[in-house]
Amino acid sequence: MKKMTTLMALAFTGALSTPLWAADAVPHEAGIESEGYVWNKMEGEKLEALKARGDALRGEIAFEICQGCHRKGALGRDDGTYPRLAGQHASVLIKQMTDVRAGRRDNPKMLPFAGHDALSVQDIADISVYLRSLPSPADNGKGDGKALTKGKQLYDKDCATCHADNGEGDGPKFYPRVSGQHYKYLLREAVAIRDGARRNANPMMVKAIKKYSDQDLEALSDYISRFASK
Ligand code: HEC
Ligand code: HEC
Repeated sequence: MKKMTTLMALAFTGALSTPLWAADAVPHEAGIESEGYVWNKMEGEKLEALKARGDALRGEIAFEICQGCHRKGALGRDDGTYPRLAGQHASVLIKQMTDVRAGRRDNPKMLPFAGHDALSVQDIADISVYLRSLPSPADNGKGDGKALTKGKQLYDKDCATCHADNGEGDGPKFYPRVSGQHYKYLLREAVAIRDGARRNANPMMVKAIKKYSDQDLEALSDYISRFASK
């Protein structure tokens, strides 16, 4: 924090022509847009966090700083801006956080709160165990309910193999739980993954979702958003 303040002061007084701290603050690593991309390489702090023994009580305290966006109980917001994290697999949470820190998933809004200056590897392990233990009630945002039959048909054909029949996902395989998630966030991510904008995406999923139109993705997301209430 101290280093950042000094550099920012220098930048504002014109002592630096380009803000050097910007390069520091926004990491970037090759993702799905690059040739030779390997999904979910097991290395670095991700591996460390996966091996660490997380403590839910410590995680609850460390999560306080996150609640301004992800809300109390990690329930997220149904306008889709901030995803629900409650009940997500710890492995998935660790992958997503370390991908953001490495610059494989772009999230400049969150980075100051989850970057290397803010959280240790142990904090990540603690937070993930805490979030996994939280309930995810059926009050998440839903779609308009108009194309659920189509949504189910597409989901069973192309998504259930990984995200499971009721959206439970698969922790050991790093496949996210999608049940209980807000419709608008699901849709936004589905579009981003289809269009190559979510750079840490799984290439097999991209293949599965590529052929779908925006309307198909609305039907899929709506169907998925209702798993929690079943
Ligand atoms: C300033 C707002 C903000 C804060 C504070 C914040 N986040 Fe986030 N977080 C976001 C946004 C926005 C996304 C969704 C990014 C996207 O759409 O790709 C996100 C996504 C995530 C995801 C990925 C979820 C998924 O389903 O893939 C995880 C995990 C996460 N945040 C954890 C945390 C933790 C832990 C903290 C606190 C240390 C935190 N966030 C603080 C804004 C924030
Ligand atoms: C080969 C396995 C696989 C298939 C098939 C698959 N997914 Fe995924 N999906 C993943 C993985 C893995 C992620 C997380 C990407 C990452 O960061 O590594 C993901 C992420 C998502 C997300 C974002 C979740 C979040 O919390 O951010 C949505 C939404 C999603 N998938 C929907 C779908 C839909 C809809 C289909 C069917 C058209 C589908 N997926 C098919 C593996 C798969």
